[in-house]
This record gives sequence, structure tokens and C-alpha cells, in this order.
Amino acid sequence: MNYYIETYGCQMNFADSEIVASIMNDNDYKLTKDIKNADVIFVNTCSIRDNAEQRVRNRFKEFYSLKKKRPSLIVGMLGCMAERLKDQLLEEERILDLIVGPDAYKDIPLLIENVRKGVKGINVILSSNETYSEIQPVRIDSNGITAFISIMRGCQNFCSYCVVPYTRGKERSRSADTIITEAKRLFENGYREVTLLGQNVNSYNFTSDKESISFALLLSDVAAINPLLRVRFATSHPKDMSDELLHTIADHPNICRSIHLPVQSGNNRILGLMNRKYTREWYMNRIEAIHRIIPDCSVSTDIIAGFPGETETEHNDTLSLMEWARFEFAYMFKYSERPNTAAAKKYTDDIPEEIKIRRLEEIIKLQNKLSYESNIKDINKTHEVLIEGVSKRSKSHLFGRNSQNKVIIFPAGEHKPGEYVNVFVNRCTPATLIADK
Ligand code: SAH
Ligand code: SF4
Ligand code: F3S
Repeated sequence: MNYYIETYGCQMNFADSEIVASIMNDNDYKLTKDIKNADVIFVNTCSIRDNAEQRVRNRFKEFYSLKKKRPSLIVGMLGCMAERLKDQLLEEERILDLIVGPDAYKDIPLLIENVRKGVKGINVILSSNETYSEIQPVRIDSNGITAFISIMRGCQNFCSYCVVPYTRGKERSRSADTIITEAKRLFENGYREVTLLGQNVNSYNFTSDKESISFALLLSDVAAINPLLRVRFATSHPKDMSDELLHTIADHPNICRSIHLPVQSGNNRILGLMNRKYTREWYMNRIEAIHRIIPDCSVSTDIIAGFPGETETEHNDTLSLMEWARFEFAYMFKYSERPNTAAAKKYTDDIPEEIKIRRLEEIIKLQNKLSYESNIKDINKTHEVLIEGVSKRSKSHLFGRNSQNKVIIFPAGEHKPGEYVNVFVNRCTPATLIADK
């Protein structure tokens, strides 16, 4: 039996699909890249914004014709949307045979057996301790050089706009031993970069009878595996970004000089309504600490435009904070009301669509300028690049990233993916650094 898996959403969801693949392979199913050969189709879904769910809904329409041609085809929805909508989906998406939430993936083989007997399968039970710690993920679409490692699951920060605490359940940390073993195994298999993943990695804490391991400790243990293994991590929550962690990064050259620190808004009233638990001043203090302790560190962020009640002045506070912080990169979104979140219950989604769009455009325009200016500063310098693969635009060029997470394109010469190479960047676009020789 062959299965096909399609993934939407964040990096954690991509890591989860690799866990599902491992569970399936252990049960004698085979991964196929060709949907037409699949006996089982999984869609691992995201609920973070309404448009994320709409994309999946549209994709399901395409599956109708496949299922019509082959009624034995099993279609399953996994992930956050499955968790959020639960059995309501059985009514809304008639072709669905399986609905499995993020903590129930070990149950999939059994649920498939039941589907074959004619019983639709649903398991959306959230767990307070499942971390899939002992499962060795099967790498899907891997470049063989960079990989993600989930180090924790869930989130209980309850930012008022966010669906994740409801779809992913309580925060829990995976055992440090299994994380380090997985990273070692990746290195032995030729991988040269691991990204440690969690919704708020700074609050990682694994406690056993023997010890209590903080994120800073975990990070230095992973960095100690080999100097040739780069270590990245995401996402950091500003409220938990400690100087101790910044010193750990500074002490290890192979921990990348790149921190993703979502700010969401530059205005204190809005940050309060968002339940982010920090102020503009606290955030600025953390950015100053980053630059003081790790002078060559890049900072990226996430921003939401048009939160309920956001005034023009409050929006301008976000723009001025961006100017001040000079982010290297940002993910930028319009506020999307998510059913049952605190924001949906307490506030009216009252910023008209055209104003949300205009504010988002202003944010994007400013960020493009900041990214370009930051890239221009990197010209006429030598950068150490970990080569990830062949450039999409030219077969004679390779691409990789520097420690600051910027993409660099350069002539291939004799080099191969997985190697470190020093390249002299002589020009750039707003998105890429380029070395012509
Ligand atoms: N755990 C991470 C973010 C996870 S979600 C953190 O706390 O920073 C990724 C990003 O999606 C968020 O940072 C936020 O900018 C955005 N986002 C989350 N919910 C949203 C919503 N309802 N509308 C618009 N953007 C949202
Ligand atoms: Fe959502 Fe906030 Fe948790 Fe991030 S920290 S996943 S934004 S609730
Ligand atoms: Fe989406 Fe769930 Fe990730 S809502 S962003 S897939 S945790």
C-alpha cells in the first residue's frame, strides 16, 4: 500500500509529516511522490489564518475526482485543522475517511484498518506528554544537508489571536537524549545543519530524575556534537529571551547568528490586548542585548497588521519599531480572526479589509527597504556559506546560507552541497546576496 502526504503550515508541521512517514513505513506502507499511485492520501493542515484553511478546502475539491475514479482511495486530514474542526469535518468534507490530530499520529495504522472495515476514523485527543521522542523521522523532500528537529510540542502562551494552544495542546519538552541522538545521527549521515523547533523554544525544559535541562544547555550540547554542524532554532518568544541564552550562542561559532524574534506589534496597548506579556521597551531592550552580546547577529520577526481596534497611531508605532530594529527579514500578516480564541470572544474584528491591506502594504514596503539596505551592507565582504544545492536559476551556480540565514548564490566551481565555502559577495537583490566569481 502506498501513501502520499502533502503538508501545509509551519516547519513543525513539516517535521510532523516526517513522523507520520516513519509510523507508516514501520507499518509496511510505502511513501509515494505521485498522488496517482497513492492508496492513502494525507493532508497535514494548518489553521493559523483563515486563508490557510481555505487553501486546504480548495485542495480537497480536487481530491473528489480522484476518489470518484477510485472509491477505495483513503483520504485523511491531519494536523491543526483536523484538531480544530474535529467531527464537524465529517459533514463538511464528505470524502474524508480519517481525521487525526497532532498528538494521535501513532493511532493512524489502526484507524486505516478500521476504514478498510468501513468505519471512518477519528482521533483528535490531545496529550499532555506525547513528544514522539523515540520515533526516527523519515526525511521527506530532504536536501540531505539541512533538517528540522522538533524539541517540544504545544504552546500555552495563549496570545489572544492565536489558535495554536487549542490545536496543539499543552507545552511539553522532548527528552534531551533523544534530541541529541537524532542530531548525531543526522550529522553521521552527512547533514550539516539542524534547526531545533518549537513554538517557544526559549521555555524548553526537560526534567528527569537526574537533571533539568534548559534550552541554553540543550543548545550547547547539540553544538558540541561537531563544529561542522550548524545549529539554528525557532521560534523565540521575546518574553523568555535571556542573556544566558545569548551568551551560549556567542560562545559557540556553529550556533547561527540569526534569531527569529516575533514582535507582532510595536504598540504597548496592542501588545497588551494580544496578551504577548512584554512591552515595546522590553522588546527593544532584548534587541539591544542581542547586538551587544552577539554583534554579528541578524534578527527577523513576525508582524500582524490590523489587530482589532488598532488605530493609525498604533500602526505607526509598528512601523517606527521596524525602522528602529532594522529587521533583516519579516513574515507579515493581516489579522485573521480565529473562532474561539480570546480575541474572537472579546474584541470585534473591526478594522475594514481595505485598511488592513493598506497597513500590511506599508509594513511590507518598509521591510523590503530594510532587507535591501541590510543586503547592501553585506556587499564587498566574504561570507562563509554552507552549500545546500544547485541554484534554481542556473545549473552552474550553487546556493547556500551564511550564518545570518541569508541566501547566497555563487559559481559552482568544484564545490558540492554539504561543504563550507568562503565566497566574496559583490552584489545583491532585495532578497539574495550574489557572488559573481
Ligand atoms: N510561536 C510563534 C509563532 C507561531 S504562528 C510565536 O509566538 O512567535 C506564526 C505567526 O503567525 C505568528 O507569529 C503571528 O505573527 C502569525 N499569526 C498567528 N495567529 C494569527 C492570526 N490570527 N492572524 C494573523 N496572523 C497570525
Ligand atoms: Fe501562538 Fe503565541 Fe503560542 Fe506563538 S506563543 S504559538 S503566537 S499562542
Ligand atoms: Fe499552522 Fe498548526 Fe503550525 S496552526 S502554523 S500548522 S502549529
